[in-house]
Amino acid sequence: MRVLRVGGGRPLSGAVAVHGAKNSVLPILAAAILAGGVSVIHNCPALTDVDAAVAILRHLGCRVQREGETVTVDSSALTRMDIPDALMREMRSSVIFLGAILARCGQAELSFPGGCELGPRPIDLHLSALRSMGAEIDAACGGIRCRGRLHGAELSLSLPSVGATENIMLAACAADGVTVISNAAREPEIVDLQNFLRTLGADIDGAGTSTVTIRGGAPLHGGEHTVIADRIVGATYLAAAAATGGHVALEGLDRRWLLPVLDAFRQAGCTVSGGEKRVELRCDRPLTGVRPIRTAPYPGFPTDAQPMVMAAFCGGRGTAVFVENIFENRYRQAAELARMGADIRVEGRVAVVCGVPRLHAARLEAADLRGGAALVVAALAAEGESQIAGLRHIDRGYARLEEDLSSLGADIRRVDVDTDTGTERQRETL
Ligand code: EPZ
Repeated sequence: MRVLRVGGGRPLSGAVAVHGAKNSVLPILAAAILAGGVSVIHNCPALTDVDAAVAILRHLGCRVQREGETVTVDSSALTRMDIPDALMREMRSSVIFLGAILARCGQAELSFPGGCELGPRPIDLHLSALRSMGAEIDAACGGIRCRGRLHGAELSLSLPSVGATENIMLAACAADGVTVISNAAREPEIVDLQNFLRTLGADIDGAGTSTVTIRGGAPLHGGEHTVIADRIVGATYLAAAAATGGHVALEGLDRRWLLPVLDAFRQAGCTVSGGEKRVELRCDRPLTGVRPIRTAPYPGFPTDAQPMVMAAFCGGRGTAVFVENIFENRYRQAAELARMGADIRVEGRVAVVCGVPRLHAARLEAADLRGGAALVVAALAAEGESQIAGLRHIDRGYARLEEDLSSLGADIRRVDVDTDTGTERQRETL
């Protein structure tokens, strides 16, 4: 079994470049289906979720080549319009392919994405929007069958769903007429998707605001794009710096994408600075308390950063109250953090973290992607050497976690241990 071995108590320092954004590259790979030609996508991180998306593209008949962090997708000849259950289960967010396949092929078939570790992940907003655009959708027998020629529509989302906004943008590119999305999600990844779609020839604007307008029907072709940096990976490294009392600079990241996270650490006594392509955090003393942290759609506090920021406050000197408003089951890291001595009380959507003088090392198990990252942050601050299993979760969203953290001075390595005894097995390469 492969685990991370983390020696805690070393302040992180230095600069690190943040890799491409998972939640940007996934919809962009789906969008490449619309091109009907060759698209080149740069700064594509080596993540298992990206592997899953590439497997879906190849299943559909696309030719995909990966050279380092550049992925080339030739969607000239699609041979299928379905995503089988096995591929859907690989990655829950595969529903993002629905709009693109339907737009390109006039029909699409995939199994229900189901829930994930964070709780039920409904797609009602996706389906109701596509129906409003003319799709006939049969969502019975555990699968989703869509067909029909799409037309533009005026759509108002009851909540600013990232996935629904992206699915509609992709479907609308091939719809007849104009589609206007009101109450659209405003994440930076939505803007990145718009910028990629524009390289394909799409006529789209408004991404980053609550109203996105797509004038469908323009002939599309291949394009080229460089994916933005991953702000959640960046938040992870900032949390690790705050937790260990370090000084870290992130390159390639726009500080405007993380303002609520930076504000929380500034309230807790950190010094924060930076600009459009750099974020810097210095933490000279244990974190103090902060005003309640409520997760919310962008530009609010990102739910994906909540677990790692929680871990940073576990070894602080004050109290941090979290209110998780996006997902039902996003405090799974709390129980594992408590095994390290953290004082966390969870009641429904509220978690109260009272800082303790010192966390201690433990053998830990990641239960989801960002919860696993939270355990790494806590282990970096704890006394002693922790072991973290469940790396399949972490590898979904971090391409070089050990390398990046080691470059900042962390004692972290991926080792192979005997499942029963926990003793390390020597392997040349992992
Ligand atoms: C995206 O998920 C991200 N995933 C998530 O990151 C992120 O946590 C989330 O946005 C919120 O920022 C990707 O981009 C691949 P939503 P998504 O639709 O699109 C409800 C990660 O692993 N909802 O904005 O699924 C839903 O239940 C992931 O990095 C409906 O009710 O998020 C949730 O409560 C975790 N009906 C809320 O909206 C719908 O049809 C936000 O979901 C769709 C969503």
